[in-house]
Amino acid sequence: ANSVDAAIDAFRAGQPVLIHDFADREGETDIVYPATAVDPAAVRRLRNDAGGLVCVALGDSVAERFDLPFLQDALTHPATENHELSYDDRSSFSITVNHRTTETGITDRDRATTISELGAAAATADYDGETFATEFRSPGHVHLLRAAPNLLADRAGHTELGIALAEAADQPPAAVVCEMLDDDTGTALSPADAAAYAARNDLVYVEGSALLDRLG
Ligand code: 5RP
Ligand code: CA
Ligand code: ZN
Repeated sequence: ANSVDAAIDAFRAGQPVLIHDFADREGETDIVYPATAVDPAAVRRLRNDAGGLVCVALGDSVAERFDLPFLQDALTHPATENHELSYDDRSSFSITVNHRTTETGITDRDRATTISELGAAAATADYDGETFATEFRSPGHVHLLRAAPNLLADRAGHTELGIALAEAADQPPAAVVCEMLDDDTGTALSPADAAAYAARNDLVYVEGSALLDRLG
């Protein structure tokens, strides 16, 4: 099987997948899990082995139903004007949240609760913004990302790559993503080192270009 089939199978089984976007975009590899599969050990892997920002990507229609704005549109501070990125037209950041049953929100247990409950919410029909507000508080310690409406046809960030993979694997449209950083240099972990980590840990590494070819 090729790496895309392996990635879909892994995701369907609730296993993490390593996705490198594109050398001419961020040039980053994110560890990505279906949100429903996240437990405290998964959060520990994200912060110890990835080390970037732990975010949950949500599909556009779910984000719309939950009434989740892009952070840039929701804030009026002048720093949000002319939000220029070198690698894409715009960021996918929405608000930050914690599940209301969490304590501080940052522990592995708390973040696993927030993330897995986001996955459960994304899988629930008739779950609207009011329901979301009864279950989650903002600000919190988990960053939400909102995918573009037509996914990879609109934008090819990890946000859309993760949600496209979730769709292909019949998972709810909620995926946790976290960038892999190099412990020695502090820069993005190289694709070769990310692939070696995947091999060592029996995980799937896949190129964004391969996902784009198949799911775009
Ligand atoms: C949030 C980010 C990451 O790059 C994440 O992969 C989502 O962003 P994008 O969709 O732009 O790749 O910046 O930590
Ligand atoms: Ca990034
Ligand atoms: Zn990214």
